[in-house]
Amino acid sequence: MDVTQAAATLPELAPELVVERPWWRDAVVYQVYIRSFADANGDGTGDIAGVRAHLPYLAALGVDALWFSPWYPSPLADSGYDISDYRSIDPKFGTLWEAEQLISEARELGIRTIVDIVPNHVSNEHAWFREALAAPAGSAARERFWFRAGTGENGELPPNGWQSIFGGSAWTRLPDGEWYLHLFAPEQPDLNWSHPDVVTEHEDILRFWFDRGVAGVRIDSAALLVKDPELSEEPADPNPGEHPFTDRDELHDIYRGWRGLADSYDEPRVLVGEVWLPDAERLARYLRPDELHTAFNFDFLACPWEPGPMRASIESALASHAPVNAPATWVLANHDVTRTVTRYGRADTSFAFETKREGTPTDLVLGNRRARAAALLAMALPGSMYVYQGEELGLPEAENIPPERRQDPMWLRSGGVDPGRDGCRVPLPWSGQLPPFGFSPNGNAPLWLDQPDDWAPLSVEAQTDDPASMLNLYRVGLRIRREAPWGAGAELSWLNHGDDVIAFARGGRFLCIANLGSQPVELPAGTEVLVGSAELVGNAVPQDTTVWLVRTGSEGPPEATPAEQ
Ligand code: GLC
Repeated sequence: MDVTQAAATLPELAPELVVERPWWRDAVVYQVYIRSFADANGDGTGDIAGVRAHLPYLAALGVDALWFSPWYPSPLADSGYDISDYRSIDPKFGTLWEAEQLISEARELGIRTIVDIVPNHVSNEHAWFREALAAPAGSAARERFWFRAGTGENGELPPNGWQSIFGGSAWTRLPDGEWYLHLFAPEQPDLNWSHPDVVTEHEDILRFWFDRGVAGVRIDSAALLVKDPELSEEPADPNPGEHPFTDRDELHDIYRGWRGLADSYDEPRVLVGEVWLPDAERLARYLRPDELHTAFNFDFLACPWEPGPMRASIESALASHAPVNAPATWVLANHDVTRTVTRYGRADTSFAFETKREGTPTDLVLGNRRARAAALLAMALPGSMYVYQGEELGLPEAENIPPERRQDPMWLRSGGVDPGRDGCRVPLPWSGQLPPFGFSPNGNAPLWLDQPDDWAPLSVEAQTDDPASMLNLYRVGLRIRREAPWGAGAELSWLNHGDDVIAFARGGRFLCIANLGSQPVELPAGTEVLVGSAELVGNAVPQDTTVWLVRTGSEGPPEATPAEQ
């Protein structure tokens, strides 16, 4: 039985289940990595005009909001996460006027816009940093950053042993002898958040974008802004809240201020935090009612494709978010991590930054099957969901980028040990048989990263009319999700189908079964399939398959076991 296309018609929801909820609590947010989305002017780099031309595609996909990775002027030392002007658009991508047009055109299609704000650091070409460099040691202009004298006999050693997240020391020395802090690349000097200019400048930047109609901001490196003024060394095993530059308590005051600003708009703006913290309880502290609205759930993203850890990750996210009344988010991929199809096709399906394991044996057919199952699982969970561009096409990681074409500072600063993140940032294939696969109107455009030659079957054009394609799975899944067959905001209750199966009911009549084990799982009696990530075998759900079901006939409550604690 082919269930990969939508099947059953949804029964009408009982009126009491139709609840008005703030849009962001169950939004599907599509991440646009603009450099690689679509190039309209033929220079080989994606641009705003390319996004505007493809808004109907995004509307048909069924997303509620677009999150734009940085589109501001930038020397691109970290692909735009090094911003030199927060109130403008990089000419490579277009103009501010075009951005405003895009925001309103998207809104007419029912799609909101979220912009990326990078408050931890600026580009070394930002006016403040240029001013600081031009000013002498000890001057006021340097106080907006972390300038310090070195250690060692002649100040030749860095002020402390902090390491950059991209490798090497987190300090760089200037010709005048002072050192400055950069938790990322040297081209990304860290701001000093105890300086009042830094606080007011960011409130002003937020207002600038909120006033242009953006619905919210994604806050980059949101747990890193505040540093220990003593610059103490990193303890081997820090207590929560005592790390010298991660998750410090003072951060919460900053976000309370931002929340006040966001709430002052008639349609309150939304704050989404990029908070990489292993501890779910610590993460939830950012989501208290007067702080951020949501934060990325990286635990789920990093989780191996194994039933125990997956179930535990879902349980822990739901349990830690409930007390602060924040929705969980479900994220499988973004511009920083290995593409899902590739990761799930490896022997070790977990994700860790340090070990991207490029070159390990990868079964892309298996990875694709699992990525389909994971997508339907994520779409069925209560909360909001993020889709990184190209995931809906099932793009694999591009692993054969020649060393001289790689651009990621992770690759450069690790001396080529870490392959870096370029492989998940390759321009999208839209149509045709050969690169640039419709990404650019100029067939000879020098793409900023080359596409693999064999991506023709992955293009939007190739997938559009194939009912079994990843694109159609996303379209069908997102359409049904939008109709909320569970009833808006319905909680999840676990069903017991054995240890290898993640199964739950929502709202009394919706069931989701993800089978990660080798034993097929019989469909429960009295149910009808809404959609499945792969074909059923007889009446059973085979391995690495997720199905959505509705109960038919006169329903009693599902035979749910209470959520395990
Ligand atoms: C975030 C971004 C990443 C960037 C880093 C520094 O983690 O997602 O792409 O390199 O911050 O801004």
